[in-house]
Amino acid sequence: MVNPAQTDAVILVGGRGTRLRPLTNNTPKPMLPTANYPFLQHLLARIKAAGITHVVLGTSFKAEVFEEYFGDGSEMGLEIEYVVEEEALGTGGAIRNVYEKLRNETVMVFNGDVLGDTDLLAVLGTHQDKNADLTMHLVRVQDPRAFGCVPTDADGKVLDFLEKTEDPPTDQINAGIYVFRRELIAEIPAGRVVSVEREVFPRFLEDGRRFYGHVDSSYWRDMGRPDDFVHGSSDLVRGIASSPLLDGRTGEALVDDSAGVAAGVLLLGGTAVGRGSEVGAGARIDGSVIFDGVTIEPGARVKDSIIASGVRIGANARIENCVIGEGAQIGARCELMGGMRVWSGVSIPDNGVRFSSDA
Ligand code: GDD
Ligand code: MG
Repeated sequence: MVNPAQTDAVILVGGRGTRLRPLTNNTPKPMLPTANYPFLQHLLARIKAAGITHVVLGTSFKAEVFEEYFGDGSEMGLEIEYVVEEEALGTGGAIRNVYEKLRNETVMVFNGDVLGDTDLLAVLGTHQDKNADLTMHLVRVQDPRAFGCVPTDADGKVLDFLEKTEDPPTDQINAGIYVFRRELIAEIPAGRVVSVEREVFPRFLEDGRRFYGHVDSSYWRDMGRPDDFVHGSSDLVRGIASSPLLDGRTGEALVDDSAGVAAGVLLLGGTAVGRGSEVGAGARIDGSVIFDGVTIEPGARVKDSIIASGVRIGANARIENCVIGEGAQIGARCELMGGMRVWSGVSIPDNGVRFSSDA
């Protein structure tokens, strides 16, 4: 059995998170509050629970934010190091860039935006059983086109790697966890942009490396899009996806101790309410992520939406399937729906927007 204490974890957290704008204009995607913790904290807690303690974060966009929050990791019982890319190096370049920090022969690399329950020790076990150079966690999804498609043979050997193809030959995809033999990382070209998906994996296949898949049917979700982000957060709150940070605290809603929720408020569907947020009487919040310092006035209804820090939602407003950026002010009785995104700081006056079929 691979000893997790002799395994390095590397987490890729340098992406721009463009699909989550405006939330990611000033905050890196892995730091967005998810079930009231920065998303990355859930992943770090899973890594720690598996017995891995040395973690290297490959950062670029807003690099300083990670170290300000997690420091040396000792509060979580981890040893966290940071490697900053001045210019983003891509997923492969980022992995190569942390090489000098690695201490062990076995290196577990994580995409920093995947919410999952997979048994990390089982992935390490497959890596060892197959005596693999590289082992990749794979899951089956309904629509593989947005991911890396990875056919394998009966023995689990990877046959091909097709990043974001319109015509995927299988529904089995790259779930964003890789176990590398350390020497292979040294072979990734240094000092330039490299995509691990488009350049490194195909080259390893051409070179006949021992490249295996570890397939399971564990909970899995890429948090890169708003609908996945809200569902992922609500699945954590309800315990459908697990996190060591929430053990014993799951239910219909998760409300920070410092938040104020008036009588008669309905909080449903795995809603999370962050620090210092206030929810007024008669409001109903369903399946939504409410960041810190948000004010939701009486009678407002919020469903399947992400409400960033400092936002005010006016009385009797209705917000459904929306992303409301930091500090935005939504006037009373506004109705916002259908994937609308309100940019940070924008003010919409009372009755300012209305989607109504009863007009
Ligand atoms: N350090 C660093 N530098 N990190 C990066 C960079 C970079 O230049 N570019 C992306 N990342 C990080 C992102 O922050 C994210 O955590 C991870 O790498 C993956 O990037 P995404 O932008 O989220 O990629 P994706 O979701 O489109 O596709 C990837 O993940 C899928 C699974 O979730 C691919 O690996 C697919 O093959 C895979 O199926
Ligand atoms: Mg992603």
